[in-house]
Amino acid sequence: MVADLIISSYNFMGCDAFNIGAYDLSLGIDFLKREEKKAKFPFISANLCDSHGQRLFKPYLLYTIDGVKVGIFGLIDKRLKLAKIPGGHKLKVKDPFEEAGKITAELRSKGAQYIILLTNMTGLKCRKMGHRGLPINLIIGSSKKNQISIPLVAKNTYITHLDRGGKCIGYLEVKFLDDDKEKQLSATERYEGKIVDGLYYYNRFVKLKLSMPDHPVIAPKVTAVLEKIKRLQAVKATTNMTIPTKKLAATGDKKYVGVQTCRKCHPQRYTLWQNSAHARAYHALILRGQEFDKECIGCHSLGYGRKGGFSDLHNIGFYANVQCESCHGPGSLHVALKGDPSKIVKKKEPAVCLQCHIEEKSPEFNFQKYFHKTCSLGEKKK
Ligand code: HEC
Ligand code: HEC
Ligand code: HEC
Ligand code: HEC
Repeated sequence: MVADLIISSYNFMGCDAFNIGAYDLSLGIDFLKREEKKAKFPFISANLCDSHGQRLFKPYLLYTIDGVKVGIFGLIDKRLKLAKIPGGHKLKVKDPFEEAGKITAELRSKGAQYIILLTNMTGLKCRKMGHRGLPINLIIGSSKKNQISIPLVAKNTYITHLDRGGKCIGYLEVKFLDDDKEKQLSATERYEGKIVDGLYYYNRFVKLKLSMPDHPVIAPKVTAVLEKIKRLQAVKATTNMTIPTKKLAATGDKKYVGVQTCRKCHPQRYTLWQNSAHARAYHALILRGQEFDKECIGCHSLGYGRKGGFSDLHNIGFYANVQCESCHGPGSLHVALKGDPSKIVKKKEPAVCLQCHIEEKSPEFNFQKYFHKTCSLGEKKK
């Protein structure tokens, strides 16, 4: 469903080359091969092979753009977890560095003047590739970081990467320069860009904001797919998402009691909490229609999938939102013993928050600043 959406959107946008990465194989090679037929753009990979070592896709493409012969080839990282891919035994990944040597030689012999490598390899390996000194002008790689980092140059290769999770659009301008033109570059152009091997590069990333209007053709397709996923998840949630948590009652473990119980003895903390973003975390999912999404619920509720927590997405009950016990741990014993301090967690440490405030979701997280807005009563205590 999502793959079809991506392909039909790329068909619409117009795309010249698509290099296979690890995610594209998550449903197996047979699936990908079927999807390829729906695409109006070529899939490439120079080192993804069948078990006999035969390539499964075209290794490269050769285009003439504005009179310049441009070769584009694709490589997949060797670190592909074949065991996790359906039918992974049918695949073999050849050494990307070796293949790069062969392909660039072939492209050069066919007259390529400018060579681009598309790869899911991350920074370090892209740099290693650059330092090999092969005739690769540009590497568009991948990055594990969430923040866009500045493009690099390794020997004569310009290396940039994609943003994770599609939060930015990358824009790269490449100009062929002769000596005169180089002098003609404006001061801003010089400042913003880089000259590598007689070529001028200007790379920037445009953040996609919610306030930007959606595309009239693509947005309805996205909505339709999201609606469908939501329906499927709702069905699945009632049928098979109930993980047994009953075992617990017998063992006398601590259970979650919910914020309303804590409120009885800690009214001030309750008011603080009620005014915090944590008290609205479940609502944020409802607003997006994603309250049945397993990918989201864990951090936007209390105790999902945990001992003494909940598992049925349709019966969220008092587990909605990030609550006191998200940070203080299950409180049943503390309550039963009339507030025995030794039976409740009180840790003022970033680790408490970092279960949820991971870099990807909370890039600006700063413990001191953030804590101030949660359970910090200053001098008062109750
Ligand atoms: C029956 C009343 C009562 C309820 C209900 C209650 N507490 Fe308490 N809580 C207390 C008392 C009393 C103390 C001890 C205060 C003291 O000694 O300073 C305390 C202390 C604490 C402390 C500080 C522990 C420490 O090491 O200093 C935390 C944290 C806390 N409660 C969290 C919670 C949470 C979370 C809930 C809900 C799950 C909750 N409490 C429910 C009465 C209660
Ligand atoms: C790993 C934990 C985690 C997961 C999983 C997660 N979130 Fe969040 N989410 C957060 C945190 C933490 C914040 C607060 C970020 C901040 O402001 O620093 C947040 C903030 C949000 C906000 C902004 C709240 C607002 O009121 O504007 C929305 C919306 C949201 N998440 C939706 C989702 C959706 C939809 C999913 C599933 C696709 C999801 N989240 C999955 C942790 C998570
Ligand atoms: C976002 C995490 C978080 C949430 C949510 C949260 N707390 Fe806290 N709370 C903390 C941390 C961390 C401390 C430790 C502060 C310190 O040691 O100075 C704390 C301190 C406390 C204390 C005082 C402990 C003491 O004696 O210094 C009490 C009582 C308490 N919390 C109760 C609650 C109650 C009740 C709720 C829900 C209404 C709640 N907290 C929600 C993180 C949280
Ligand atoms: C169980 C997951 C979880 C834990 C643990 C957690 N948070 Fe959060 N936090 C969230 C989510 C989800 C949001 C977004 C809520 C919303 O806006 O809808 C959020 C939002 C916030 C916000 C509001 C951010 C903003 O942009 O205004 C602050 C501040 C915050 N958390 C601080 C903390 C601190 C400090 C801790 C640790 C002491 C902590 N959180 C622990 C999930 C968590």
